[in-house]
Amino acid sequence: MKQRVKNKRLKESSRVWMQRHLNDPFVAKAQKEGYRSRAAFKILEIQDKFKVFNKESIVVDLGAAPGGWSQVISKKCKQVIAIDLLDMEPLPNVDFIIGDFLKEESLKMLDTIINSAKVDVVMSDMAPSTCGIRKIDHLRIMALAEAVFEFAEKNLKQGGSMIIKVFQGGAEQQLLNKIKHSFQKVQHFKPKSSRKESPETYLIAIGFIEKIS
Ligand SMILES: C[S@@+](CC[C@H](N)C(=O)[O-])C[C@H]1O[C@@H](n2cnc3c(N)ncnc32)[C@H](O)[C@@H]1O
Repeated sequence: MKQRVKNKRLKESSRVWMQRHLNDPFVAKAQKEGYRSRAAFKILEIQDKFKVFNKESIVVDLGAAPGGWSQVISKKCKQVIAIDLLDMEPLPNVDFIIGDFLKEESLKMLDTIINSAKVDVVMSDMAPSTCGIRKIDHLRIMALAEAVFEFAEKNLKQGGSMIIKVFQGGAEQQLLNKIKHSFQKVQHFKPKSSRKESPETYLIAIGFIEKIS
């Protein structure tokens, strides 16, 4: 039976969020299976379809907290290097940094852990905080996507993969064109575990083509 939230002290948006959360089958499934977040099922679906990770993979997880993706992927890979603005509980096989991915100091910390090795997968589930003004929100989202692509271009191995969360009809054409130049295969994918009403979708880019300078 559907659970209703009647607490009158809650703001309407919080009440709607809580009601949806309580009735979400993936939230229940995540709790039952011991995952830190329902997002775990999204990366499992991505792996099922695209087979981006293997036992030897070194993976960077951008926007990792509370850790559902890292939890799943760290069991399938050699090493995960994760970052988030928020702290998260430690996980075996995961090096975690608290910081803003858009800040130079965080990039330096990532560099130190990566230690000039190239990585196999860069994955980003980052979502910027929104202010409700569509134009500004869109710019923030695109700035994050651009920064992830720039980071991936610098750090991926030849043949590596990139996964980016994007919104509203996917990445902007200009960025998409750049990504298509740098990867053999690029595709949008909306996992079944992503809420239908959410504008989020994932850009899956496979087969990084390293530029020789
Ligand atoms: C949807 S959650 C990620 C869920 C995660 N993939 C999981 O499986 O549990 C998005 C995360 O992105 C983080 N984030 C947003 N902007 C960021 C930034 N500039 N730098 C680092 N983390 C960021 C947020 O703090 C938030 O924890």
